[in-house]
Amino acid sequence: MYAITLDDQALAWKEQPPLPSPGADEVRIKVAWAGMNRADLMQRAGQYPPPPGASEILGLEVSGTIVEKGARVEGFDTGQHVCALLAGGGYAEEVIVHQAQVLSLPKGYGLREAAALPEVFATAWLNLFMEGALRQGDRVLLHAGASGVGTTAIQLCRAFSHPCFVTVGNDDKLQQCLSLGADAGWNRHQGSFVEAVKNWGGADMILDPVGASYLADNQQVLNMDGRLVLIGLMGGRAAELDMGRMLMKRQRLIGSTLRSKTPQAKGAILDALHAHVWPRLVRGELRPLIDRDWPIQDAQQAMDYLESNASIGKVLLSVSGEG
Ligand SMILES: NC(=O)c1ccc[n+]([C@@H]2O[C@H](COP(=O)([O-])OP(=O)(O)OC[C@H]3O[C@@H](n4cnc5c(N)ncnc54)[C@H](OP(=O)(O)O)[C@@H]3O)[C@@H](O)[C@H]2O)c1
Repeated sequence: MYAITLDDQALAWKEQPPLPSPGADEVRIKVAWAGMNRADLMQRAGQYPPPPGASEILGLEVSGTIVEKGARVEGFDTGQHVCALLAGGGYAEEVIVHQAQVLSLPKGYGLREAAALPEVFATAWLNLFMEGALRQGDRVLLHAGASGVGTTAIQLCRAFSHPCFVTVGNDDKLQQCLSLGADAGWNRHQGSFVEAVKNWGGADMILDPVGASYLADNQQVLNMDGRLVLIGLMGGRAAELDMGRMLMKRQRLIGSTLRSKTPQAKGAILDALHAHVWPRLVRGELRPLIDRDWPIQDAQQAMDYLESNASIGKVLLSVSGEG
């Protein structure tokens, strides 16, 4: 089997030992496309090791064809096209994954588009509706609005009638976010977002992949009973928390990671996607925003591009390239 290996942070497509047979609850997928995520950059830098038992190979999501299944697998058959949420191992010709982390494709979807679905839709759904507990009319602040997760969260907010405000890194990204359904936004290179978000009405929930550098400003714009859901640390891991403000405004700070959840917990999120999101994808009310793709052999270039903060939506890697 060929897979991407890491040699002192350099990515190379090399022959690797074959995978074992799938366990009773697992399937083996021949990978067509793999999604690239910001977490892959952190893993390459040694800052985000795979959870215990997960593959050391990069890659948190794929689409492809089931080529083998375990004795207890129900509802999936060999030859079926699927997409899957992984704890690792996606940058490879084949991957083995628990059946709870596998989803059938939305009707009308091909394998390329399907590879852009699992990680960002699961992350956005988990953190907006499960951790963030959005209630009718709640207003949402989305940082990194043009990211893979951000462009998905904007669309979910629009679909479920939650006004959302985005922060982004340039005006082109802001326009794209507005056209996806964001209500308003702010270019983060023009100073603090605090006044703009306050004038907009403040936020009942914040989806925050930035962390330390935004904590003080987030607390200022978070409304009474607001939830700050922390999903990343792009702006650092240590900052001063204003506990007075937290107490008086009954603010809640929630840390959330998807990757380390059990297959069963991931399965519960995917079940919710299947029930509430897949029909909307089929009807065209939601769609994954794909920026660009590269052949897997050029994964290094793709990662450099993602790291440059130029992308809007998803970056994909073509493995077999089947459509
Ligand atoms: N906890 C979880 O379970 C989970 C799951 C999935 C993703 N995440 C996190 O969610 C975030 C988005 O992931 P993704 O794969 O969708 O990302 P992505 O597509 O790679 O986009 C990330 C964007 O973040 C912005 N950014 C970079 N550095 C920043 C900084 N220091 N301050 C503010 N913004 C910055 C950049 O856009 P601009 O230049 O336009 O601002 C960049 O394009 C990442 O932090 C990722 O780790 C967490």
